[in-house]
Amino acid sequence: MNILIVGSGGREHALAWTLATSPQVDKIFCAPGNGGIAEVATCVDIDVMDFSGLIGLCRAEEIEFVVVGPEAPLVEGFVDQLNAEGIAAFGPSAAAAQLEGSKGFTKDLCARHKIPTAAYGRFTDVEAAKTYIVEQGAPIVVKADGLAAGKGVIVAQTLDQALIAVDEIFDGAFGIAGAEVVIEECLIGEEASFFALVDGGHSLALASAQDHKPVGDGDIGPNTGGMGAYSPAPVIDQAMHQRIMDEIITPTVTAMAAEGMPYKGVLFAGLMITDKGPELIEYNARFGDPECQVLMARLNGDLLPALKATAEGNLDQIDLNWHDEAALVVVIAAKGYPGAYDKGSRIRNLDTAGELPGVNIFHAGTANDRGDIKANGGRVLGVTARAANVADAQARAYEAVDVIDWPEGFCRRDIGWRAVARENETA
Ligand code: AMP
Ligand code: GLY
Repeated sequence: MNILIVGSGGREHALAWTLATSPQVDKIFCAPGNGGIAEVATCVDIDVMDFSGLIGLCRAEEIEFVVVGPEAPLVEGFVDQLNAEGIAAFGPSAAAAQLEGSKGFTKDLCARHKIPTAAYGRFTDVEAAKTYIVEQGAPIVVKADGLAAGKGVIVAQTLDQALIAVDEIFDGAFGIAGAEVVIEECLIGEEASFFALVDGGHSLALASAQDHKPVGDGDIGPNTGGMGAYSPAPVIDQAMHQRIMDEIITPTVTAMAAEGMPYKGVLFAGLMITDKGPELIEYNARFGDPECQVLMARLNGDLLPALKATAEGNLDQIDLNWHDEAALVVVIAAKGYPGAYDKGSRIRNLDTAGELPGVNIFHAGTANDRGDIKANGGRVLGVTARAANVADAQARAYEAVDVIDWPEGFCRRDIGWRAVARENETA
């Protein structure tokens, strides 16, 4: 069958690279895609929010299945529109995507169904928000309610920081996403990401991962979309995995179905593993980027039947296998990211780097300019390696990073530090 992948990041390159190996796939299209995706798919320059353009492409190219990468089209109801047109798609309805689209929605759902998460308040009034902050004390977390590209969260160490954050959000720092603020208790523990496919009723756990959000080594500096990741997350052992399924994922799937918004797609839980157990920080309604790159590097088998079963509601008939090895991805970004950066500089030696054993280079913000790969975004490459453990995967990934010739880029040099420290402790 012909399939369409919607998006243009490293996540979509990893999905395209994986789906290209499926015996069920004839042709892969990607809109809008990037310089790396173009090696495995036909890229078509249609924006992810141009729903009628994308549906037209599906008709013209006889596309039978659409995989939606990013959150914005999901939250705006693209999958509902595709289904109304009779086109099958992987991803939640707009109603179900509220799990990512509204932090307040998710907090209220957790409260109604006793799903463990930080204590919170929702506010549309500045003074009420500030009173709550003063009552609760610092540290405290202030969030814009809506989608803010991962940037609408302030973990305030002092009352002053929290109060300023409230003013900034209500003053429009995150646009319409900040019409409401959610204020939360600050959870203490180790963060991890957990992914499960959900078909409305059944869920199938995928692998765990750990992201590195701050831009600088040692987790210093402003938050980004993610500067690197590895899988599995050692903090999620078998017992913790079971607790996450029993206490967080399954109750959420049951609650969404009971409330008339069955969730179909990949459920990405951002978790804090605390002394008490797993607590939900937030849900995303899509694969993580760059977490998807390490999940796809570890997947051992055909992804397409699992994605189709997710859409069709027969995920109970699917089993996925994973390589026991660890995978690690180092993101190379344009200098200046997550602030302003330049586009258009040339990147060399990608082929040589990609030939190193166990290494895959996923493109994010790149464009193919008459055969030259050029930078075209903030996060530009995801250098991914698989090896026996995180330390070896880290060594391989950085070996490949050092082969790539792109003076205008930078990366963190410590991706995986937590897991490597843990491996050294147990060695
Ligand atoms: P989010 O965009 O909701 O994932 O939040 C971004 C980051 O803020 C998370 O990855 C956490 O590091 C941090 N964070 C969010 N909520 C909390 C919380 N309640 N307690 C502690 N840290 C949090
Ligand atoms: N890497 C975090 C995210 O995709 O939201």
